[in-house]
Amino acid sequence: MKVDPDLVHRLFYPQVPLVMAARSGKRVSAMPVVSYLSTSGTPPLVGVACKPESFTCKLALKARAFSLSVLDRKHLAEMSRLATLSGAEVKDKLAAAGLAHSAGTDARVPVLDEAVATLECRLLSAPKSGDHLILIGSVAAAYASEAFSGFWDYQKYSPILYTGWKGGFSLYEGPRRKT
Ligand SMILES: Cc1cc2nc3c(=O)[nH]c(=O)nc-3n(C[C@H](O)[C@H](O)[C@H](O)COP(=O)(O)O)c2cc1C
Repeated sequence: MKVDPDLVHRLFYPQVPLVMAARSGKRVSAMPVVSYLSTSGTPPLVGVACKPESFTCKLALKARAFSLSVLDRKHLAEMSRLATLSGAEVKDKLAAAGLAHSAGTDARVPVLDEAVATLECRLLSAPKSGDHLILIGSVAAAYASEAFSGFWDYQKYSPILYTGWKGGFSLYEGPRRKT
């Protein structure tokens, strides 16, 4: 079957969504992202392809910083809310989605209290790539829960897997833990 150009990105599914978050002044926004990659090991750099019209992207550009968080599948409902709410309509989208947060240790970013892993990033550049901007971040701090010790322990962390839209919002919760 020939794949419609608009659907090419769906060939990559399932993917683990991360929460990208940013703060400017008292304004906090966040959104699920799957278009992310590690662009360099030394120094540690990451990239996230963002729609320039998303409020979170605008806030990250303004703050010149953003965080990336990994959530366990027990926070699937909060991840879903981040995809349906708009940061333009609420002062603190993380709080509105039910995700408590505090200030980052090394960058001026909000970090999620319930994250199993967090990257605090300073924005280095934002080159345009078609209809997206690639936000390149220098990783100022990275930390994880005890579920990560060089590799993830899937007895302690169950990833959310995103399978795409199908007549509405659908997130595959990921494999069940073995008992
Ligand atoms: C699982 C999932 C992954 C997404 N990945 C991206 C992404 O990588 N880049 C992007 O710009 N938008 C992505 N989106 C869309 C944004 O999350 C969505 O447009 C969000 O509502 C933007 O919110 P905001 O305007 O409050 O920032 C994704 C959505 C979902 C549900």
